[in-house]
Amino acid sequence: MATFRSLPNYAIFIVFLISCLSFSSTEAYDALDPNGNITIKWDIMNWTPDGYVAVVTMYNFQQYRHIQAPGWTLGWTWSKKEVIWSMVGAQTTEQGDCSKFKGNIPHCCKKDPTVVDLLPGTPYNQQIANCCKGGVLNSWVQDSGNAASSFQVSVGSAGTSNKTVRVPKNFTLKAPGPGYTCGPAKIVKSTKFVTSDQRRTTQALMTWNVTCTYSQFLSQKTPTCCVSLSSFYNETIVPCPTCTCGCQNNITQPGSCVEGDSPYLASAVTGHASKNAFSPLVQCTTHMCPIRVHWHVKLNYKQYWRVKITITNFNYRMNYTQWNMVVQHPNLDNITQIFSFNYKPLTPYAAINDTAMLWGVKFYNDLLMEAGPLGNVQSEILFRKDSDTFTFDKGWAFPRRIYFNGDNCVMPPPESYPWLPNASPRPIVSILGSLMAMLASLTFLMALA
Ligand SMILES: *[C@@H]1O[C@H](CO)[C@@H](O)[C@H](O)[C@H]1NC(C)=O
Ligand SMILES: *[C@@H]1O[C@H](CO)[C@@H](O)[C@H](O)[C@H]1NC(C)=O
Ligand SMILES: *[C@@H]1O[C@H](CO)[C@@H](O)[C@H](O)[C@H]1NC(C)=O
Ligand SMILES: *[C@@H]1O[C@H](CO)[C@@H](O)[C@H](O)[C@H]1NC(C)=O
Ligand SMILES: *[C@@H]1O[C@H](CO)[C@@H](O)[C@H](O)[C@H]1NC(C)=O
Ligand SMILES: *[C@@H]1O[C@H](CO)[C@@H](O)[C@H](O)[C@H]1NC(C)=O
Ligand SMILES: *[C@@H]1O[C@H](CO)[C@@H](O)[C@H](O)[C@H]1NC(C)=O
Ligand SMILES: *[C@@H]1O[C@H](CO)[C@@H](O)[C@H](O)[C@H]1NC(C)=O
Ligand SMILES: *[C@@H]1O[C@H](CO)[C@@H](O)[C@H](O)[C@H]1NC(C)=O
Repeated sequence: MATFRSLPNYAIFIVFLISCLSFSSTEAYDALDPNGNITIKWDIMNWTPDGYVAVVTMYNFQQYRHIQAPGWTLGWTWSKKEVIWSMVGAQTTEQGDCSKFKGNIPHCCKKDPTVVDLLPGTPYNQQIANCCKGGVLNSWVQDSGNAASSFQVSVGSAGTSNKTVRVPKNFTLKAPGPGYTCGPAKIVKSTKFVTSDQRRTTQALMTWNVTCTYSQFLSQKTPTCCVSLSSFYNETIVPCPTCTCGCQNNITQPGSCVEGDSPYLASAVTGHASKNAFSPLVQCTTHMCPIRVHWHVKLNYKQYWRVKITITNFNYRMNYTQWNMVVQHPNLDNITQIFSFNYKPLTPYAAINDTAMLWGVKFYNDLLMEAGPLGNVQSEILFRKDSDTFTFDKGWAFPRRIYFNGDNCVMPPPESYPWLPNASPRPIVSILGSLMAMLASLTFLMALA
């Protein structure tokens, strides 16, 4: 009997182990978006006397991960002695050494050019379709109409036929920090273009694709987001785990965070901005995370139950535009209503409907303001109970997983969850809990190694 009863716990444990291992792998794989990638497509539109003109398009095929300002940076290494004569809709950051050219000077002579998008407001004669958005690339679910970015490049000293052209190597995509890994360019079937009246189809002379995937462990060494929990049935508020994203350390790192009421706040924000504009400057908290998601189990009705979600920004140096959140909870298969956020179920595995993406309503709360009195957004979700599975016991009402802008938010350890009054903690749960915590830290260390 005893062995039988412990079997399900073993099963949970093994499933957890597997999910940990897949999550910890530096190879980019996200269980909630298994096919997520950014595909970069080069279409050669015409040959020139010494090369070709190509339209390069980046498609963000990720469900919820986007690239926000200051935008993407794309790099590659030429296979031969190619140069860029000109670009439309983007530019290289450096021209490089073009001293051997007389007369016409190329736009860029570097062997490894670095390309950035142009800013909105670029004159029309320097634009092409889908360009000039300051490198912002929205996610597929949130705004597929703005999930692509294009530029045109005129390449010289290159091959002038599909036999002599060499594909560029070593593509790098920054957003603008690390996180993406790009595979080699693969020559694929030429893209077909249909005219707007649908009466004629043209095709590229040659096409190649590059696929880039994201890994949170390449992107940042420490987490950037944490979760705190509370409920109506227990007055305990379970805070984010201490030191989730860093520790307050006044001695070795003075100024690593700012007190919310500090008179020096304004000067700290602008003073740091010049030095390191994109590293977060966080408000001092025990968790030191730029983002905290609070999940409050608010009300219990006969047929429904209600949760309030609050996302708080502790970063003085970041307004999160077009933010999004992914939540995993078994009851997400039966949402009755969600207030003041947009919502879409994500079903990476057709049979399991326990994951949803939430994001702000345009012009209302799609901007999560920098730390301060306006630095939060809130919503409530009304779930319909399924009498077979619903319970407030064992922390069932709390989320299984939360992502903010595609990055995992660290949950408190399960044994600290608020209990139902008069429920006794189950030893097996807490043993499992500490095992989970141990494994989680182990896998994190493994990922860093
Ligand atoms: C990239 O994403 C697209 C769209 O989801 C998918 O069709 C394609 O197979 C993915 N590519 C790779 C290499 O995973
Ligand atoms: C190159 O073009 C020829 C015809 O012009 C075509 O048969 C061949 O498949 C093309 N090769 C590649 C790699 O696209
Ligand atoms: C491409 O990257 C690999 C590994 O980073 C490096 O060994 C190789 O030399 C690079 N190739 C070129 C052409 O830069
Ligand atoms: C290349 O990328 C384009 C655009 O994302 C896509 O439609 C096409 O299927 C891709 N081809 C291959 C072979 O992945
Ligand atoms: C750091 O300094 C703040 C006030 O400047 C203080 O409240 C906090 O306790 C100090 N933390 C440590 C770990 O000394
Ligand atoms: C955030 O947006 C507000 C209002 O648009 C602006 O005043 C503030 O400077 C922005 N903060 C940052 C860090 O960009
Ligand atoms: C998943 O659940 C949501 C919310 O109840 C529902 O709208 C959606 O149709 C479900 N999707 C699938 C594939 O079952
Ligand atoms: C939602 O719950 C109700 C009541 O339990 C049930 O009748 C309905 O089929 C459920 N819907 C889904 C999509 O599971
Ligand atoms: C509330 O939950 C905490 C665990 O987080 C537990 O220690 C406490 O006893 C619970 N309070 C009540 C009244 O059950």
